[in-house]
Amino acid sequence: MPAPTAQPSPDRILILDFGSQVTQLIARRVRESGVYCEIWPFNHAGDDRIRAFDPRGVILSGSPASVTEDGSPRAPQLVFELGVPVLGICYGQQTMCEQLGGAVEAGHHREFGRAWLDIRENCTLFDGAWAVGAREQVWMSHGDRVTRLPDGFRIVATSENAPYAAIADDARRYYGVQFHPEVVHTPHGAQLLRNFTHHVCGCEGSWTMAAFRDAEIAKIRAQVGTGKVICGLSGGVDSAVAAVLIHEAIGDQLTCIFVDTGLMRSGEAEQVVSLFRGHYNIPLVHVDASELFLGRLEGVSDPEQKRKIIGAAFVEVFDAEAEKIDGARFLAQGTLYPDVIESVSFTGGPSVTIKSHHNVGGLPERMKLALVEPLRELFKDEVRALGRELGLPESFVGRHPFPGPGLGIRIPGAISRDMLEILRKADVIYLEEIRRAGLYDAIWQAFAVLLPVRTVGVMGDGRTYDYVCALRAVTSTDGMTADYYPFDHEFLGRVSTRIVNEVRGINRVVYDITSKPPGTIEWE
Ligand code: XMP
Repeated sequence: MPAPTAQPSPDRILILDFGSQVTQLIARRVRESGVYCEIWPFNHAGDDRIRAFDPRGVILSGSPASVTEDGSPRAPQLVFELGVPVLGICYGQQTMCEQLGGAVEAGHHREFGRAWLDIRENCTLFDGAWAVGAREQVWMSHGDRVTRLPDGFRIVATSENAPYAAIADDARRYYGVQFHPEVVHTPHGAQLLRNFTHHVCGCEGSWTMAAFRDAEIAKIRAQVGTGKVICGLSGGVDSAVAAVLIHEAIGDQLTCIFVDTGLMRSGEAEQVVSLFRGHYNIPLVHVDASELFLGRLEGVSDPEQKRKIIGAAFVEVFDAEAEKIDGARFLAQGTLYPDVIESVSFTGGPSVTIKSHHNVGGLPERMKLALVEPLRELFKDEVRALGRELGLPESFVGRHPFPGPGLGIRIPGAISRDMLEILRKADVIYLEEIRRAGLYDAIWQAFAVLLPVRTVGVMGDGRTYDYVCALRAVTSTDGMTADYYPFDHEFLGRVSTRIVNEVRGINRVVYDITSKPPGTIEWE
C-alpha cells in the first residue's frame, strides 16, 4: 500500500490568518477552484512547519488589526524567502508592503462596502475578468492604506480611497489587493483567486471529491490496519458520511452505534437503521435509550442543565455499548474543518458561552481510543459533495442541521412524552409544506418549537385551552449569523391551519421573525 500523503494533492496553498471574519471564505474559493489549501494562524506558522507543508503559494488574510499599531501581526519572514507567489488581501497587502519596505498609513477616510475599481494596467490576476480601462465592483473594508510601494511593485488598479487598490510585482510573483476578492460582493473575486492559484502559482486544480475520497480511503486503511473502529451515528450528515467512507475503506471492521435518545424527530431512528443496516449492510447497534434520557430529564427546565444531562447520558450509553465490541481500538468522528481551524484571538480571553453545544468530545479520552476523523479537512458543503460521491441519498445529504440534544431543546422548559409527540406531529406538517413549496434547500434550518404556554381558542362551538407552536426558519451560511426566512403570508396561513386542525394539543401558531443576533437559531 502506498504511504498516505498528509494532503490529497501536491497543489497546496497556505492561507495565513490574521483574524479576519472572512478568512474561511478564502479557503472556500480556493477549494472550489480544485486546489487544496489550509488556514493557519499567522502566529502558529513556524518555519519548519511551513517548509514541510511545501505550499505552491501563500495567501495573507485580512485582519481587524492595524499594521501601524505596535505589536500588530506580521507574516513570518520565511514567506518572502520561499520563492513562491504571495497574495496579500487587505491587511495582508498592507503587512506585505510594510515588511518589504513600503509604507502604510492609518486614519484615512474609511472605505466600507461596495466600491469601484479603475483597472489601470494588465495583470495576471485579472485574466479573463477585468480589462484595462474598465470600472469594476469590489468589496472594501479598511481604514488604513498603503502609501508607498516596496521596490519592484507597480499599481494595476486604483479606487477613490485606495490609490494602491491592486498592486503587482511580476518578477517575484507578489500581488496585493486592498479589496476582498473572497466575498460574493466582489463579483469577479473567485476568478481573481483562481487566477492566482492556477495562473500565478501553476496549480492544476485536480483536487476533486473523487480524488479526496481515494486518498482518504488509503489513509484510513494505513491508520487502522486490521483494527476495529466504532462510529456513533447521530442521524446527521457528518457522521453518516464518515461512516460510509470508513466502511468503504475497511468494510466490517467498522461497527456503528446509534443511540436513540427519544428526542429524535418522527421516523428518524427508523430511517437511520434502514439506511445503514438495510441499504449499506453496515454492522449497526441500535440502542433505544429513550427511557433513560426522558427519565433523567423529567422536571428539568434549565436549558444548559438539559444539555448537560443529555450529553452525559449519551456518553454513558455509547460507552457501555462500545465496551461490548471486542477489540475496538478506534473511534470515528465526523469532525469538520471549521471545528479544527485554530482561531486567532486578539483579546486573549475566552468568549462568553452562549450555549454549550453537546458533542461526543469527551468520549475518546474516557475510552482510550484513537480517533479516526476523515472529514477533518472538509467544510460542510464539501462533506455533502463527498456524501453524494459515496452515493448517499440526496434526502440524507441535503438535510438541515439538527442539534445533538434534539427535540429536548425545542420545548422550552421541562419536557414530557406527550409534548414531544405533539411537537413531532407539528414539525412533520411544517416540513412537508416547506418541501411541497420547493423551499427546503433555500432554508438553512426550519423546525417547529412547542411553547409551554397554553392559550384559549375556539374550535367548532367549543373552547380550547392548548399549547402554542412557534415556527422557525432561517437562512445562514454557517449558523453563526442568521436571517429569518421571509415566507409569504399564504404559506404561513396554510401551515397554521393544518397544524391547528391536525395536531391535537395545539390551538395557536406563531412565526418567529428574529434574526441572529440578537436571537439564536434554537429557542434554548
Ligand atoms: P444557535 O441556537 O446557537 O444554533 O443559534 C446554531 C446552530 O447550532 C445548533 N445547535 C446545537 N447543535 N448541540 C448541537 O449539536 C447543541 O446543543 C446545539 N444548540 C444549537 C443549531 O441547531 C444551529 O444549527
